Amino acid sequence: MRRIAVMTSGGDSPGMNAAIRAVVRFGIERGLEVYGIERGFQGLLDGDMHKMDRRSVGDILQRGGTILKTARCKEYQTIEGTARAHQILETFGIEALVNIGGEGSMQGTLRLSRNHNYPVICIPGTIDNDLAYTEMTIGFDTAVNTVLDAITRVRDTSSAHDRTTLIEVMGRHCGDIALYSGLAGGAEFVLVPEREENLKDLCQKIIEGKNSGKQHSIIIRAEGYPVSSQDVVEYVRNRTGQEVRLVVLSYLQRGGSPSLRDRIFATECGLKAVELLCDGIYNKAIGLVGGEVVGFDLAEALDVQPEFKADMYEAIKILAK
Ligand code: F6P
Repeated sequence: MRRIAVMTSGGDSPGMNAAIRAVVRFGIERGLEVYGIERGFQGLLDGDMHKMDRRSVGDILQRGGTILKTARCKEYQTIEGTARAHQILETFGIEALVNIGGEGSMQGTLRLSRNHNYPVICIPGTIDNDLAYTEMTIGFDTAVNTVLDAITRVRDTSSAHDRTTLIEVMGRHCGDIALYSGLAGGAEFVLVPEREENLKDLCQKIIEGKNSGKQHSIIIRAEGYPVSSQDVVEYVRNRTGQEVRLVVLSYLQRGGSPSLRDRIFATECGLKAVELLCDGIYNKAIGLVGGEVVGFDLAEALDVQPEFKADMYEAIKILAK
């Protein structure tokens, strides 16, 4: 193996830069040429790539986002698009691809290996923590800490005004951001895509809380919960007669300097990716199991079904009383 490429695709996540840095610098250390592909699969189809050196990844460890930029690309999803991407990689003499991204990015990368027998390695980069084969995804820790900080601030003002505040967080299919931040932030209620909550009961609990001296409440709603934030706010307002406010954190929680955990894990993923490639081991998804960074079979990793963290969900309810 002489020349590899690294790219980021799908939604960015804090720590992606740390992973890129590790792939580039450790790759060079091991005698590889490392190319950086801009804007994910879109940039690959455009042939938008350049050779990287140690200095091209300087001063990025502490930065959120991704220096390689990212994109969502429809053309690549087609059989012809994937074939064209493969052709371009061959034309540039790139012998393996390291892709840092979430579930969709991994599915896309798997197609290169399945359809064209092309060597790939995936690194789990997503704030959603929705890849069940690994105990951690790059960016989740930072995002949850950002949400936690927001909850702390919102709690101050909610308490000052005796209000209920609904904080909307990311997570279309996976409620982990809501669950972790809700448990650590002392939220009264958490609404996640995996569980339907009886809103009538929720309002009843707010009223009971008020009667027992609880003056304010925090509801965390993951964006994938089937009832919209605005509708929940109106429902709770009408049923409890309380003042209810809405805070949508949106992209605030996806940016920012990566936490210690994310920097370390991302770095370890980058090192592992290069190590595997140098050992001639391909088609792996890097993940964390029992504190160890390991390479899983990519297709098998994507088949692992997520298990809802029911214990955390119940704990939030018990502790909020
Ligand atoms: O990165 C994952 C995620 O943050 C989801 O939680 C969210 O729904 C989505 O990406 C939104 O990303 P975009 O608007 O960039 O497509």
